[in-house]
Amino acid sequence: MIAIKKICCIGAGYVGGPTMAVIAKYCPNIQIQVVDINKERIDSWNNNDLSKLPVFEPGLPEIIKAVRGSNLHFSTNLVDAIKNADMVFISVNTPIKKSGIGAGQSSDLRWVEACARQISKIALGHTIVVEKSTLPVRTAKTIKEILFATNDNSNKEKSFSVLSNPEFLAEGTAIKDLESPDRVLIGGEDLEAMLALKDIYLNWVTDEKIIFTNLWSSELSKLSANAFLAQRISSINSISAICEVTGANIQEVANAVGRDKRIGDKFLKAGPAFGGSCFKKDILNLVYLSKYYGLDQVAEYWEKVVDINYWQKNRIYEEIVKRLFGNLFDKKIAILGFAFKANTNDTRESPAIDICKNLINEGASLLIHDYKVSEKSIAKDLSSLDVNSWEYLPNVYDVIMETDAMVILTEWDAYKKLDWERISLHVRRPFWIFDTRSILEVDKLENLGFNIWQLGNGSNIK
Ligand code: NAD
Ligand code: UGA
Repeated sequence: MIAIKKICCIGAGYVGGPTMAVIAKYCPNIQIQVVDINKERIDSWNNNDLSKLPVFEPGLPEIIKAVRGSNLHFSTNLVDAIKNADMVFISVNTPIKKSGIGAGQSSDLRWVEACARQISKIALGHTIVVEKSTLPVRTAKTIKEILFATNDNSNKEKSFSVLSNPEFLAEGTAIKDLESPDRVLIGGEDLEAMLALKDIYLNWVTDEKIIFTNLWSSELSKLSANAFLAQRISSINSISAICEVTGANIQEVANAVGRDKRIGDKFLKAGPAFGGSCFKKDILNLVYLSKYYGLDQVAEYWEKVVDINYWQKNRIYEEIVKRLFGNLFDKKIAILGFAFKANTNDTRESPAIDICKNLINEGASLLIHDYKVSEKSIAKDLSSLDVNSWEYLPNVYDVIMETDAMVILTEWDAYKKLDWERISLHVRRPFWIFDTRSILEVDKLENLGFNIWQLGNGSNIK
C-alpha cells in the first residue's frame, strides 16, 4: 500500500481551498500545500483575519484556524510543492472556451494542460495525479500523454498514475458536503493508486460510500450528475410559468410532486434560473461531447435545459418591465441579492447579472445589496455598463429607500425578516416587490399596500 505523506493541490479556489482544509482536518499526518498562481488569493488564504478568506463558506474559518500553518499551507511556490508531493490534485478552473473550435461549449483546458506540463517537469519519483477539476470525458488521456512525454533522462525513477476524483460539493454547504458526502468517486486504472486515495478518505468517510470506476465513467458521472441536477431546476422553472397563468402555485406543486419517493423533494425549488460556475458549463460540455460523437438528438435534449434557463431569467425581467408600466426611465429599483445562491460570495453565472443588465438597459437606476458579495465583484460583473447606472450599498434599508420596486434575487435568510412596516414608510408608490425566490408572505405584504409578484404564484393573476 502506498502511504501518502505529502499532498500538493494546484488551485486555491472554491474547491481546492475547502477540500484541502477538510483533508487536513481529518489527516493530521499528511502535509498539504495548496498552491496558486494568483498571489492575491494566496495572501487572502493566509490572512489572519479569517473574515477575509477568499471563499465564504459556513464552517470554513474554524477549520482553517485549526489546521493552517500546522499541516495545511497556502503558497505560490508551485515548484517546491510539486517536487515534494506523493499526490498532486489538479483543482484549477475549467471554464467554457471563448474562441476557436468548440467555442461556447467545450472546456478551455489551458490551465489543466499547464498543470500537467508543470507536474511532468517538476515531479520526482512516483506521483499520483488526481483530477479534481470537472473535465471533459477522456481528459485523463491528455493528462497522461503530457505527463509521460517528459524527456527527463536524469530522473529515471519518475512515474505517474492518473486518477479521476470529481468533487460534488455545492457552494454554501461545502464543508458539510465534504465532511459527509453522499459518495466519493475514484476512477482509475492503477488499483494501488486508487487504494492510496481511498485510504485518505477512509479517515472520515465510510467504506461503502467510496466508489471505484474506470476513468471515463468517473469523468462522465460528474458531468451527468450536474446535468441531472440542472435539468430538475429547468423542469420546475418551466412549471412555475404554467402556475402563473393557470392559478396554480409552484410551492404546492413542487411539494406534491416531490412527495413521490421516486422523484424526491430535493432540487425542486423554482427560482430566477440556475447560476454558479458549473451547471451551464458542464451541460454544454455534454452537448459538445454528444455532437462530437454524432449524437445530435442527445445534444439537443441537454441543450434545452440551458435554453429554459436563459428563458427563465429573461421572462422575469420582462415581468418587471411589464408591471412598471413598460417604462424604467427615472425609476429606481432595489436589487436584493447578487450571489447566485445564498451563503456564498460567488457571483459566477448569477442570474442577477443578466437581470440587472437588462433592467439598466431599459433605463432603470439600480441600488444593489448583498450580504457577502463585494462591490468590487459587482463592478466586475457589470463592467460593460455605465458606472452611474447602479450603486452598491451595504445596508439593506438604504437600498430600498425611495425606490419604485424591489427585486429579490438571492434567498438570503435575512431578507425574509425585513421590517416591512418600516420599508412601507420610505418607498415610492405604487411600489412593486418581485420575489423570484418565493420567500415572502404575499398576504402580509399586500395588507401593507405593496404590490407583489411572486414567481410561480398563480394568485398573481388579477
Ligand atoms: P476557481 O476559479 O475558484 O479556482 C481555480 C484556481 O486555480 C484559481 O485561483 C486560479 O488562479 C488557479 N490556477 C489556474 N491555473 C493554475 C496553474 N497553472 N497553477 C496554479 N494555479 C492555477 O475554480 P473552482 O470553483 O475552485 O473550480 C475548480 C474546478 O472544480 C472546476 O473544474 C470546477 O468545474 C470544479 N468544481 C467546482 C465546484 C464549485 O462549487 N465551485 C464544485 C465542484 C467542482
Ligand atoms: C452544484 C452542484 O449542486 C454540486 O453537486 C456540484 O459539485 C457543483 O454544482 C459544481 O460542480 O460546481 P452549486 O452550483 O455550488 O453546486 O450550487 P447548487 O446548490 O447546486 O445551486 C446551483 C444553482 O441552482 C443556484 O443558482 C441555485 O439557486 C439554483 N437552484 C438550486 C434552484 O434554483 N433550485 C433548486 O432547487 C436548487
